Amino acid sequence: SIPVWLDCDPGHDDATAILLAGHTPGLELLGVSTIGGNQTLAKVTKNALDVLDAVGLSHIDVVAGQPRPLMRPPLLCPEIHGDTGLDGPGGGRLLPRSPRSPLPGKAITVISRAIEAAYEQLQRERTGQQQQQQQRGGEGGGGEGSWRSSSSSSSSSPSGERVRLVCTGALTNAALLLTVYPELSEMVEVVIMGGCMGVGNTGPVVEFNIQTDPEAAKIVFESGVPLTMVPLEVTHTVLATPQVLAAIGGIGGMGATAATAAAAGAVGIAAEAAAAAGPASAALSTAAPPPPSSSPVAPAAGTAAAAASPFRHTIQQLLLFFAETYKRVFRFEHPPLHDPVAVAYVIRPDLFECRRMRVDVETCSSLSYGQTVCDVWGQSAAPPNVNVVLQVDVEGVWRLLLEAVARADAG
Ligand code: BDR
Ligand code: CA
Repeated sequence: SIPVWLDCDPGHDDATAILLAGHTPGLELLGVSTIGGNQTLAKVTKNALDVLDAVGLSHIDVVAGQPRPLMRPPLLCPEIHGDTGLDGPGGGRLLPRSPRSPLPGKAITVISRAIEAAYEQLQRERTGQQQQQQQRGGEGGGGEGSWRSSSSSSSSSPSGERVRLVCTGALTNAALLLTVYPELSEMVEVVIMGGCMGVGNTGPVVEFNIQTDPEAAKIVFESGVPLTMVPLEVTHTVLATPQVLAAIGGIGGMGATAATAAAAGAVGIAAEAAAAAGPASAALSTAAPPPPSSSPVAPAAGTAAAAASPFRHTIQQLLLFFAETYKRVFRFEHPPLHDPVAVAYVIRPDLFECRRMRVDVETCSSLSYGQTVCDVWGQSAAPPNVNVVLQVDVEGVWRLLLEAVARADAG
């Protein structure tokens, strides 16, 4: 299985990223670290513990990371995530409080040890596989295939032999990790939800996670580590429509209608959203985010609907709060679920269309600090450093999430 460390700031969409990472076969969630962002470090750390316990992952540890960005004052996002960082409809705490505490110690120490141990395990497995191949008279070696972008990466290990560090908040912890333990850049592939190619969300051309700590992002982007960026242009196509919410809630749950059974194939809506976003070429050439889909949805056939449950209801309630705030703040008809898309990339990279390009982080401009300046057409002489996601199979992402919800619900 693929070992994954998740660094996050829960946060509604971070909560679904935790659920997806912890309830997908083939992924091993090593641990969760937190970073101040959607709310204060203290709040998002408690939220991470609450989420893990609520989704049946109380065996996964949490460690608190940096309380503030490297060089700037903290940025919080209560207008989207509420006072707790994980409010339910109408405001206020939704999840029960976890009795657990975060691990003691510095996050980067804990993360580095976990990554090193998982990497050594991967190496042992690889050696075992090679020996088996040799015994069978095969050629041996090769691993699971090459890192898609190894040609311009400074590192040499193929993707299948690396631990994944998924970051769905500001990159402060990641920057410190790669600075203090540079040897880890040979052991990890970093996947982030963050940045944008054109239009931003918390600034005209900046995305929140990168805007929160641009200097940290610059360190990570220039570190030479294999890096995949899932930008806003892509996450804005993964919309939690009422049909998606109904499918998450299950038959008989809130929002259930005559169409709910069909909406268990929430994927049908997702496919529509993907179509609205257009092909990768359109994503590249447009300056504006794709319009949220508002037209009626043809339900997808074939997926059996699940029964409602208190667990499903809770997840639905979290997303309903998110839907309310996205409508109020951004006038989005349906909220985009950013963070699980980065986890989905680890699970099913084949669902994603990507392009390697040069991406530099603006840190000087007062107008656009935090901008991820994407050299889409290769104008710069600088070598490509980021694998940028251009488009995703939205239906496929919803399928992964609905399956994870079903597994968590089944206990
Ligand atoms: C990002 O900002 C946060 O509010 C979300 O959790 C997501 O990680 C989107 O810009
Ligand atoms: Ca986040």
